[in-house]
Amino acid sequence: MYADLVLYNINQIFSPNDFGRPLKGTEMAQADIIQNGYIAVKDGKILKIGSGNVPKDILGSDTELKDLKGYTVTPGLIDSHTHLVHGGSRENEFNLKLSGVSYLDILKAGGGILSTVKATQNATFDELYDKAEASLNTMLIHGTTTVEGKSGYGLNWETEEKQLKVAKKLNENHPADIISTFMGAHAIPTEYKTEPEVFVKQLIEDMIPKVAQMDLAHFCDVFCEEGVFSVDQTRRILQSAKDSGLKLKIHADEIVSLGGAELAAEMGTHTADHLMAASEKGMELMAENNIIANLLPGTTFSLMKNTYADARKMLEKNLALALSTDYNPGSCPTENLQLIMQLGSLAMKMTPIEVFNAVTINGAYALDKATDRGSLKEGKNADLVVFNAPNLDYILYHFGVNHVKEVYKLGKLVVK
Ligand code: NIG
Ligand code: FE
Repeated sequence: MYADLVLYNINQIFSPNDFGRPLKGTEMAQADIIQNGYIAVKDGKILKIGSGNVPKDILGSDTELKDLKGYTVTPGLIDSHTHLVHGGSRENEFNLKLSGVSYLDILKAGGGILSTVKATQNATFDELYDKAEASLNTMLIHGTTTVEGKSGYGLNWETEEKQLKVAKKLNENHPADIISTFMGAHAIPTEYKTEPEVFVKQLIEDMIPKVAQMDLAHFCDVFCEEGVFSVDQTRRILQSAKDSGLKLKIHADEIVSLGGAELAAEMGTHTADHLMAASEKGMELMAENNIIANLLPGTTFSLMKNTYADARKMLEKNLALALSTDYNPGSCPTENLQLIMQLGSLAMKMTPIEVFNAVTINGAYALDKATDRGSLKEGKNADLVVFNAPNLDYILYHFGVNHVKEVYKLGKLVVK
């Protein structure tokens, strides 16, 4: 069989192991690093990968050949936690935060998430679409080919549905793929401030079953946090999502150590995200129950804190780690996953191989998408990033700039 495209002479290829489950603990420090390698693509899939000379039997007269001397190639990056679709921005809170006002106090005063809720409710479908498309373009330019996108800035059915439908249409039209998450449980809407249980009931009895019936999302997520959704409310919301056939995610122990990691283990969520304030017991329970820890160091940085999630301890406890941007207008307004990966090393002391595993194979598992992406196994999607860098270490060491030279989605050049 002849290849459509062969990338060859590649200085370094990062090829993650795929054991049919997320990489955990010390496994995250391992990968196949191929020097002077080639990747052959046929019909949008990986046909062959190896080092040295390209086998002659895959080269036909129509095969396109590309010399990538000096470059590094990895699987397309996977950003498995973002709040992609929303209206407006929140630079008006920036000076408040600089003067020491806390994220949760801004929310309590009706700002924060609730101000983005107003902007999102007031935005038209097209306005939301255009803004999210621009963000998705920025992500793609930085190497992200698959993105998770949450709703949660509607807090009423009409706007939650609008957000999820924007993501659906964008997924159909854009080269990057979007996996949707329903996050109606993102904040208590102002009108239910004094009777939050009425809103919880709406989520459980009305919105979650509708999301599942209409196939608008694969996952359901809850912001389990002091002053937002309690552990008990989160448990009930997640249980109803499970009953409706949605997979579970949780914003756990982001700011206050509330027992979110323990709840994730109890409920068997697919991932538990943030974990800046997770207890050791919570980490151990997560490891025992194979819950992926999705870490978001950009949020710690942007919230101006130094309490990064303890990635090294989590790896010692044999957890599987993913890394994501958390792109959102409040706690982490960046689409740039490379910057987050650099923080993974610079702030959380993850090695380059651990970081790249976290945003490729483990990112794919975090989104339930590892059957066709996340590694360079023959037959998987030819989602590839070409970095203008001689090796992986360079990409993380030389921080704050975009190293992407080219991006391929299903074998097609989508960024050059
Ligand atoms: O992951 N914590 C809840 N949700 C987002 C922030 C959303 C916002 O501030 O608009 C997060 O940090
Ligand atoms: Fe988030």
